[in-house]
Amino acid sequence: MQIVDFEQKGRVAVVTLNRPEALNALNYQTMTELSALIVQIDRNPEIAVTVITGAGRAFAAGADIKEMAGRDVADMYLNDYFAGWDAFAACRKPVIAAVNGFALGGGCELAMMCDLIIASDKAKFGQPEIKLGVTPGMGGSIRLTKAIGKAKAMDMVLTGRMIDAAEADRIGLVSRVAPHDELMTVAMEAAETIAGYGLPAILAAKEMVGRALELPTTEGVRFERRLFTALFATEDQKEGMAAFAEKRPPQFKDR
Ligand code: HXC
Repeated sequence: MQIVDFEQKGRVAVVTLNRPEALNALNYQTMTELSALIVQIDRNPEIAVTVITGAGRAFAAGADIKEMAGRDVADMYLNDYFAGWDAFAACRKPVIAAVNGFALGGGCELAMMCDLIIASDKAKFGQPEIKLGVTPGMGGSIRLTKAIGKAKAMDMVLTGRMIDAAEADRIGLVSRVAPHDELMTVAMEAAETIAGYGLPAILAAKEMVGRALELPTTEGVRFERRLFTALFATEDQKEGMAAFAEKRPPQFKDR
């Protein structure tokens, strides 16, 4: 049975982790389906933005502990057990995590692979892996520390405590918090706003902000300038600027 649901709404892909009986724990099948789907979305010229959420009371309560428990080092290493998550993180189009409930361990790490996190006011975030005798393993130690800084990341990773949406907002882990019942409306509005722009600028914006986390300032500024300059070769740049001068809405063509 399929775990990851997909629906296209205009230029927005809505992806739902649908294994609520296990709080959407991220098993191998989920990773495989999700990574294959995101590759298709990335290649699909009709789609500009993805919103990912969870069915039921969790976004995802982490990697599937029951599935993972019996694995050994050789199996995990030789079979590159987590490679699918790299494919997810490599998506060039914006992905919005609409975090509807628990985002724990790999679930929090999945949310952090996304570009915006919009949290329900009932959402809970945490990196509780230390309670299982392990640590974050899907990029959490680095993405969390870059997102919220050492003090808060150490607190979450070493104590394993959960934080609520208000704290996540205060410390900069999430982009926005929405009332629980309005979560998908708010996430879709953000997605549709982005999807209303031209894809060349959308991709460039995502890429340059992503690179900002990895590059020294001087290199980052140069990288930004190269992409910015390249956008002057697009019809969308001509259209966007002409529309402003003519006081009309732009008609972007993704060209
Ligand atoms: C497998 C899980 C699961 C998980 C929940 N379930 N989380 N199954 N892996 N990560 C299952 C439960 O076993 C249970 O199944 C059902 O979902 C409902 O969960 P309950 O525990 O009964 O619900 P509740 O009492 O409300 O507690 C919710 C919870 C708790 C606080 C979120 O489920 C919990 O602590 N889950 C584990 C969170 C965690 O440690 N995540 C990190 C995983 S390690 P049954 O069949 O009993 O009804 C990780 C590493 C990532 O993510 C890096 C490497 C990939």
